[in-house]
Amino acid sequence: MEILVFETAGKASAFAAEKFIEQISQKPNSLLGMATGGTVVSLYQKIIEAYQQKRVSFASARTVNLDEYVGLSPDNAQSYAYYMYSKLFDHIDLPKENIFLLDGLGVVDSELKRFNEFLLQNPIDLQLLGIGTNGHIGFNEPSSQFQLGPHLVDLAEETIKSNSRFFKPGETMPTQAISMGIRDIMLAGKVLLLAFGKAKADAICKMVNSTTVDPMLPVSVLNLRRNVTIVLDKELAQAAGL
Ligand code: GLP
Repeated sequence: MEILVFETAGKASAFAAEKFIEQISQKPNSLLGMATGGTVVSLYQKIIEAYQQKRVSFASARTVNLDEYVGLSPDNAQSYAYYMYSKLFDHIDLPKENIFLLDGLGVVDSELKRFNEFLLQNPIDLQLLGIGTNGHIGFNEPSSQFQLGPHLVDLAEETIKSNSRFFKPGETMPTQAISMGIRDIMLAGKVLLLAFGKAKADAICKMVNSTTVDPMLPVSVLNLRRNVTIVLDKELAQAAGL
């Protein structure tokens, strides 16, 4: 595990963008595992800038997302499908047919099956992760056991509270999601986790110092990997005592 601390979240995002560019230059048809949330917005912006500067092309790349809310159609502005198009896909040359996204309004069992088959047939080259304040990765919430593959999740109270900041008054935040499982994340060739700000310090501190893998702190499973890069800003690192 490599832990890198940058002066600002902006500098950390620029570093992460270079990791994506490097991945695509080494293997143009890489399968990129994408994440959503506030943390990765600036990374996506920097990827778009690099594309506009003709430093990278996604014409052969493929993507798959970690998760999706259940109950939101892909054209709902709060869905992760909409997020990906508006924050990244609409601004780069990634072919639409190379994008794997879940349909939050689809039949859950069918979506899980489609997701599982896709992941078993298509190994992820580089998986991007954020982290929840409770240590979730994707939507693998703290639990007594890890789920290996795609599964339906009842979102944790803490996640609902935290992610409800993105929902406007009158919009109801879903309480369920479909998420990649821990096996899916662990089988990725490389993992790049981004975490910024004090709110994530506790989860990162526990993960870095943990001597066990604890499904109640899902991110702790990354300790079993060699190829994982944790990218932090100074604010988080200081608060976590790193
Ligand atoms: C959601 C996603 C996670 C992501 C988390 C972090 O819960 N399912 O994959 O890591 O958001 O969100 P933020 O970056 O907004 O703090």
